[in-house]
Formats: sequence, structure tokens, C-alpha cells
Amino acid sequence: MLCLGGKIVSVGKTKDALRDPWLRKNRRQVIEIDCTGKVILPGFVDSHTHPVFVNPRLVDFEKRIEGASYEEIAQAGGGIRSSLDGVRKAGKGLLAAKVLSALHDMEAHGTTTVEAKSGYGLTVESELKSLEAIRDAASGWPGTVVPTLLGAHVVPREFEGRSQKYVETVCKEMIPRATRRKLARFVDVFCDKGAFTADETEQIFEASALYGLEVRAHMGQLSETSLWPFLRFNPASLDHMDHVSDDDIAQLAKRDTVATLVPGANYFLGLKDYPPARKFIDAGVPVALATDYNPGTSPTMSMPMAMSLACTQMKMAPEEAIAAGTINGAWALRLADRKGSIECGKDADLAVFAVDDYREIPYWFGVNRCELRVLNGTVQAFS
Ligand code: NIG
Ligand code: FE
Repeated sequence: MLCLGGKIVSVGKTKDALRDPWLRKNRRQVIEIDCTGKVILPGFVDSHTHPVFVNPRLVDFEKRIEGASYEEIAQAGGGIRSSLDGVRKAGKGLLAAKVLSALHDMEAHGTTTVEAKSGYGLTVESELKSLEAIRDAASGWPGTVVPTLLGAHVVPREFEGRSQKYVETVCKEMIPRATRRKLARFVDVFCDKGAFTADETEQIFEASALYGLEVRAHMGQLSETSLWPFLRFNPASLDHMDHVSDDDIAQLAKRDTVATLVPGANYFLGLKDYPPARKFIDAGVPVALATDYNPGTSPTMSMPMAMSLACTQMKMAPEEAIAAGTINGAWALRLADRKGSIECGKDADLAVFAVDDYREIPYWFGVNRCELRVLNGTVQAFS
């Protein structure tokens, strides 16, 4: 594989690549990485993460061990709302440092493209600050970051009982200001009980369309919501999807909306059920896998861990899990023309694993076998 200027320019046998007259003369100038006996994949595309937060939620963790559910913890003052204070008070520099450190951890596990959501500020200023922190962190990292505005993560306490007012703030202030400043590529909504209703989600999608932002949503994590009202917005992805009807799966199969499954959240919440990956795949719905990195439900930066859970808990084959963490993740971000596979003309995003067989990547869980990455042509060895 020959990479030049951050792109893959040829894939094949070394002797064929060396037929290129320029390369023959300048071979000394080329950095050669011998990957004999290793597995090389396209860098993982982690298409669902929430990296802009300050503190881990250890009290929630302990309460859950004692038997409380995610919703009970949220109602008792934990959950997403308990992360807001930290982000509202934090300076942009601290938030950017937190995001950058997460990007480095993700990269260490083979990830080269990351979707990063705001969503733990939930005021206009702190959501914009979170998106700026994502932008600043991205500028210090050689990989690719796709920013998403998740102003509709939950209704903040000061709007309790007035969710419509908060939705107006998202639609009339957050979305326009984030668009004007080119801070977001997507708008996301947590559509579920305890968060936003289907009606509110539609309003937010309408506003996004008006401003030319593409949409995605957290859907079906805690309860089922009928999907048809959202399909006209052509969401890039619907994520979680634990609760979904067979009819909706059939509808999705006719479209290019990806189902992004995040089994790390099920694992960390100690749930016994996982999203019905097999039903999606067997119906022809493209399935992506992501970490859902966040302090409440999925504090992991490891795509191989998500893939291992996909194999053991959702009965995805190793090759399905790898496709879900690479090319299908790229589709979920509408980046499949540049990311997610090793093909000429695509970005030089690669991950090298010290294993003999690709199936070992989801097989060895809780350890990291990734030893080298290339991100947009920049080589990063394990340190
Ligand atoms: O993807 N469901 C909504 N958002 C996150 C959880 C956020 C949190 O608990 O802090 C999720 O699971
Ligand atoms: Fe999430």
C-alpha cells in the first residue's frame, strides 16, 4: 500500500508499486513499514461519542451496582443533568484538553475518525463552547473529527415543565448559531422517555433542515418510538435501537439510514438484552458499531471492545463487526467516499494489529493489540 499526501495511492504487490518510475528512483524517501505477519485494517470510524464532559459519574456507577436503573438514577438527580455543572463552569481549554485526551485513547485502540457530540452544557453558550472545544481538540489531532450538536440531550432543570421553550432555544438559537459559525456537521436528539418526544424531535429536525444540517438521533434506547415520522429527514443514522419494531426494520432496509448499535452502553448498564443486530443485518439494514463513549452509560474508548460485545452478545460475525466499525461507520457519518476502507483515492487511515488473524481483534477483549496507526497519512506508533 502506497500513501502520498494523506491519501492511499496504490494497493497491491510491492513489486507492482515499484514499477512506478518516481518511486523506483525515490524509494529512500519513502517511509516503509513492514507489517509482515500482522493485520492491517482501515482505521476504525467511531461514529457516536460524547467526549465533552469533565468528570466520570462514579456515584451513578455505584448506585447501579446496588440495583438502581438508569432512569431511576436520572430522576434522583444523577444522570445527564449531573454532568451539566462541570461543563458549564469549565473553561474551553479544559474541555478541549479532555476531548484531545479521549481522541488519543481512541486512537491507541485503532480509531482514526471520531464523531464527537456536545450535549453536557445545555445552554446556548455552553453548547457552543463544547463545540469549540471539539474544534480546538480536532486541530491538535491528525485524525478526522466530525462535530455534532446535541443541544437536545435532555431538558435542563431550569426548563423543567417547559420543554417546548427549551426546544425553541435549540431551534432558534443553538442551531442557527452553530451553523453560522460552522461548528457542527450534524444535529442529534435524544428521543426517548425522560428526554425528547417524537414531536419535539421532528421540530428540531425541521430546524436542522432549514439550516442545512444533517440529522441523526438516539432512538429506541429505553422505549420504542415509531420511526416513520423521521424518515423524511433522511437521517444519516439512528442509534441505540434496542427497541424497534419489525415493520420499522423493514422500512429502514429500503433507505440508506444506518442503524448504529452501541453495545458498550448495554454492557455498562448491566442490561441482559442487546439491540437485535441479527434482525437488522438479515433484513438488509446497514449496521454500524460505535463506542458511545460517555460518562453515564459507556465509558470506553475502545472500538475492539464494542466489536467483541457485538460478537458475543449480538451474534455478529467477526467480519460483520469489522465492517460495522469501519465502512458502515463511515456511511453513518456520510463519509464513505473518503473513509472506512483501504482503497485507492481514500484517506490514508490505517490501523495495524499485532495479531495473526483478524478474528483475534474482537476475540482478545480488554487488551489492546493495536500497535501502529496512520491518520490522514501521519504515522503514529504505539507509545
Ligand atoms: O448514548 N442516551 C443518551 N445519551 C447517552 C448517555 C448520556 C449519559 O448518561 O451521560 C447514551 O447512552
Ligand atoms: Fe449516545
